[in-house]
Amino acid sequence: MFQIYWSTNGVHRNPEFFPDPLKFDPSRYEGAGPAPYTYVPFGGGPRMCPGKEFARLEILVFMHHIAKRFRWQKTIPDERIIVDPMPVPAKGLPVRLYPHKN
Ligand code: HEM
Repeated sequence: MFQIYWSTNGVHRNPEFFPDPLKFDPSRYEGAGPAPYTYVPFGGGPRMCPGKEFARLEILVFMHHIAKRFRWQKTIPDERIIVDPMPVPAKGLPVRLYPHKN
């Protein structure tokens, strides 16, 4: 009997679909973007995450306020990323926030 293990992280790091996959390159999502079912942080098909748009909006608002109000600095500059099973910063990405002066 065969068992297949598929992981989102494995597909997202596949250079066949995402050239130079570890490079921070937001432009790779512009235009037509990645091929169907290759970029799937929220799953795909009929059981795809129903909270997708809500989560994206919430993250956008959060990042907007963080960037607008604070300068921030990582307290662990080279923090490792662990995969468990999703990739996350090993120590939870501690940051020091400095309010912008108005
Ligand atoms: C960054 C945030 C989130 C990520 C990365 C995420 C990711 C996912 C993934 C990968 C699935 C499985 C999809 C599949 O089987 O193809 C899922 C399912 C689901 N998500 Fe999310 N999700 C997020 C936020 C949310 C939020 C905010 C809600 C609700 C307010 C939510 C509600 C659900 C529900 C109810 C399911 C089960 C859908 C089903 O099985 O029919 N998620 N999510």
